[in-house]
Amino acid sequence: TDRAVEALTRLVRDVPDFPEPGVLFKDITPLLADAAGFSAVVEGLAAAGRDASGATRVDKVLGMEARGFILAAPVALSLGVGFVPVRKAGKLPHDTHSVAYALEYGEAVLELHQDAVAPGERVLVVDDVLATGGTARATHDLVTACGATTASFAFLMELGFLDGRAALGDVPSTALLTV
Ligand code: PRP
Ligand code: MG
Repeated sequence: TDRAVEALTRLVRDVPDFPEPGVLFKDITPLLADAAGFSAVVEGLAAAGRDASGATRVDKVLGMEARGFILAAPVALSLGVGFVPVRKAGKLPHDTHSVAYALEYGEAVLELHQDAVAPGERVLVVDDVLATGGTARATHDLVTACGATTASFAFLMELGFLDGRAALGDVPSTALLTV
């Protein structure tokens, strides 16, 4: 509802000039610290993994290091499926798939254990923010490398002016808040 969205929006703190001058940082830590807000966010994101009858329609929930972990793990528990971490380069100990993605300056690499998602599985990808879409797109490419399918993306917040959605192809994507 509009009131619920308003309540969540009020729990996101705007921090000007972080991490650099001219950038308005959306700080979700007050929202995470609010039990009702955190719970509403987790249930809102989990809905992306359910069908109209409320049945879970995904096999795994993936979260991206670091802020994605905070949201994706409770979403997985709510849906009754396993959680899988997508990590920054060099952190996962076993055989991985790797995908490079563009940052504002330079590039970064995300990794996924090759056996973390089975061929044919359907996954829900959860992160806090959709900005340029680089992180989400790289995660989708990791899922594809496993022979699995991204059923849906679910974000707490979408920065609409950056048009990150364009990077996600035709995979369904929902965001609880749009700024
Ligand atoms: C932030 C945010 C998203 C990503 C969105 O992660 O948590 O994962 O940027 O940006 P994009 O759509 O342009 O890829 P970041 O890697 O900065 O830091 P984190 O480790 O705190 O999650
Ligand atoms: Mg992140």
